[in-house]
Amino acid sequence: MKDAKPQTVYLNDYQAPEYLVDRTELTFDLDPQSTLVKSHLKIRRNPVAADSGGRSLPPLWLDGVDLELLSIAEDGELLPAQRYQEEPGGLSLTVTKPEFELEIQTRIAPESNTSLEGLYLSNGMYCTQCEAEGFRKITFYPDRPDVMSVFTTTIVAPAKYPVLLSNGNKVDSGTTDDGRLRVTWEDPFAKPSYLFALVAGDLQYVEDSFTTSTGRAVTLQLFTEARNIGKCEHAMVSLKHAMRWDEVVYGREYDLDIFMIVAVDHFNMGAMENKGLNIFNSACVLASPETATDAAFQRIESIVAHEYFHNWSGNRVTCRDWFQLSLKEGFTVFRDAEFSADMNSRAVKRIEDVTLLRTAQFAEDAGPMSHPVRPDSYMEISNFYTLTIYEKGAEIVRMIHTILGADAFRRGSDLYFQRHDGCAVTCEDFVVAMEDANGADLKQFRRWYSQAGTPIIEVEDEYDAERAQYSLTLRQRTPATPGQEEKLPLHIPVAIGLLGADGKALVLDKFGSTDTVLHLTEESQTFTFQDIDERPLPSLLRGFSAPVKLRYGYTGEQLQFLMQHDADAFNRWDACQRLALNTLSSLQGQYRAGETLDTPSALIDGFSVLLQNSELDPALVAKMLALPSAQELAEQGDEIDAAAIVAARDFARQSIAVALKPLFLARYQALDQRKPYRPTADDIARRGLKNTCLAYLCMTQDQDALALARTQFERDENMTDVSAALAAMVEYGPKDAAEQTLESFYRQWQQDTQVVETWFGLQSSSAGFGTLDRVRELMAHPAFEMKNPNKVRAVVGGFAMRNFNQFHHEDGSGYEFLADQVIALDKLNPQIASRLVTPLTRWKKYRKHEAGQIHSALKRISDSGELSADLYEMVSKSLA
Ligand code: TRP
Ligand code: ZN
Repeated sequence: MKDAKPQTVYLNDYQAPEYLVDRTELTFDLDPQSTLVKSHLKIRRNPVAADSGGRSLPPLWLDGVDLELLSIAEDGELLPAQRYQEEPGGLSLTVTKPEFELEIQTRIAPESNTSLEGLYLSNGMYCTQCEAEGFRKITFYPDRPDVMSVFTTTIVAPAKYPVLLSNGNKVDSGTTDDGRLRVTWEDPFAKPSYLFALVAGDLQYVEDSFTTSTGRAVTLQLFTEARNIGKCEHAMVSLKHAMRWDEVVYGREYDLDIFMIVAVDHFNMGAMENKGLNIFNSACVLASPETATDAAFQRIESIVAHEYFHNWSGNRVTCRDWFQLSLKEGFTVFRDAEFSADMNSRAVKRIEDVTLLRTAQFAEDAGPMSHPVRPDSYMEISNFYTLTIYEKGAEIVRMIHTILGADAFRRGSDLYFQRHDGCAVTCEDFVVAMEDANGADLKQFRRWYSQAGTPIIEVEDEYDAERAQYSLTLRQRTPATPGQEEKLPLHIPVAIGLLGADGKALVLDKFGSTDTVLHLTEESQTFTFQDIDERPLPSLLRGFSAPVKLRYGYTGEQLQFLMQHDADAFNRWDACQRLALNTLSSLQGQYRAGETLDTPSALIDGFSVLLQNSELDPALVAKMLALPSAQELAEQGDEIDAAAIVAARDFARQSIAVALKPLFLARYQALDQRKPYRPTADDIARRGLKNTCLAYLCMTQDQDALALARTQFERDENMTDVSAALAAMVEYGPKDAAEQTLESFYRQWQQDTQVVETWFGLQSSSAGFGTLDRVRELMAHPAFEMKNPNKVRAVVGGFAMRNFNQFHHEDGSGYEFLADQVIALDKLNPQIASRLVTPLTRWKKYRKHEAGQIHSALKRISDSGELSADLYEMVSKSLA
């Protein structure tokens, strides 16, 4: 049976399952082209769904896609053909009794499965990916998260696959009569099918152990191919940190005797939280100082924690339906962000998350795919693993934390886990637990879950010297989004402080507080502060206390003042961002008007002070020195003029680089300490600022600067420094030298998949070097694989999503190229095709010329033949 035609599913149509599956016993007989899957299901009528009359039993629906049905038996007897009907997307079965057992045999071909959903092969290793709806590609099953079952899994495989893994604990193993290996796993925790996992391969592992808060020893194992066994340590250390943190901060203890992680090269996303058997994209788990950058080390720490945290927020308490996806993802992203903040620099982590939100989530929320954190409908659920569900969802949980306070939030989460353990629940259940545990009222706050779009808050202030009164008036509105014309006021927590002329924090109330949270609930509201003896400068939306756009008419001087004096580190950075955004926006205006561009002196002055401040966390300085990306500028403006954005940004960076060259050099030299690599916050901060300085130095194309980069590259100490130097040489150095250096780098690292991905990405995203011709060459390179999402993301994604300059070439060739790749990929891997099309979906925001070009590229995709449900949803909604 084929996949069903794209249909829209609505939250309002939710109905409890007609039947439950108490036990699921699976047997896999593995073979690349003919894997036999036997399932034995204990099925029972759902008492909740059964109508009181209890007359006739409704049919049982089993999802199934790309399966060959071999047989079905009920209570030991083969079912006659008239008892079941194969339909698009599954199987409908006539039911005659309220409790029965089914035995189903199917055949699948993992080797031909390029969608990387269901059971597939990656470098000769069998692995599965079942979230969200991949289990139906393994066997016929009620593949929905509110059907929770206890799984037993037996795997039979030839001896060349010595490692056979599944969820839970290993309960049996042996060999079959014909010399194959057989292993049985049992997972005592009932779970939905999306958390099922199986791995079979010739793998090595590293092992460690963790003693839980109640003294239980848990075995930790990390599996990978032999060549990568030296890259496991960082993930293992991160895992142990995460396990301890969840005990201390949330009181959550691990619940099985073993926790396994497997690294897989072909993977659609970052990682997957399968019960007891997490499966990771190799790039999100494997690292060594020689091969991985600081950013990779930090990403690994946070993803390992994220998947581990899902054991409670996702697995023990799971989602009732996929509209509730943010219940587990938003909460778990909040948990992993707090973990990373505790392990590293809190302000820097916040800055990185907010940058992602403002750049990509705000853009999503303003585009054709805009949806609430709890969507009302979808065609293909895989398209809803979005920045809105994950990052905005995490912001909602953070706001609850801000509104209730840390202790009350913990009481709420304790109640949530206790009340719903073993259940499939909703976002509403989460909010109710937070309310019930604290007697709180989050009635209006709930709108954050159902209302899409990014709220805008306009702020005005007034100072009355005679009365010593200062007041802030806040007005909120949310722009219309597809399907939601009218927007209601939200409950928005706005954290603020006031600064005096000397830069000191002013006291805001009789308790002596110097910061406070304003609760904006009306469309317009005025907040008044008494006993304010001078006109203050407000520091607004501290720590980015809500996912909104806040507008206040700061002058350049005021922003420079905040950059230096704000007690909130996040807002010091944000003041710098505002200054940069203002500057870049006037430069864009000048460029469009054909005027000569003004030297960005306010920025240069501000940066000059920053570079000479050795007190400030170098990581924060590096973040402040980084101008907003072209993508962020695109999101900020009303109409995207790609050429103006590139010109303004280049001009500003060049001017800064030239004006502050001696300072960049001095700072570079001071930070260029050669010591053994450690991925600690301090060392990462030092390398980050050093390499920011190096990039500015090389921007001037000065020989001495490029020589510094070459020396750093040739010293070859760690991938952070090596790749930063290489990137600077490629971007700003002479082309011939860059070619040679890239070639020798490739020769040195061609055996290392992760480094080759870095090598691809560095070229495709280079504004000067990553031309469309270069990208085509990279796709013809022997190391490129269209069936490997990491390679596609590095080359095609690097070009379309991180190379604003070349992708938006005025002849429109970038758009046509992306359309070609999306059409080709859709045949292999719809999830990847659908994600890659994103840059084209924003066509309406571009100037008429580009908008027309992008529109016709989209149209060509739409007319190219039968699209997957994934791509169809993206393209049809974008063209609507
Ligand atoms: N639950 C996974 C996470 O957030 C997400 C995920 C992994 C996923 N692989 C996927 C979602 C494939 C859809 C398809 O950690
Ligand atoms: Zn997740």
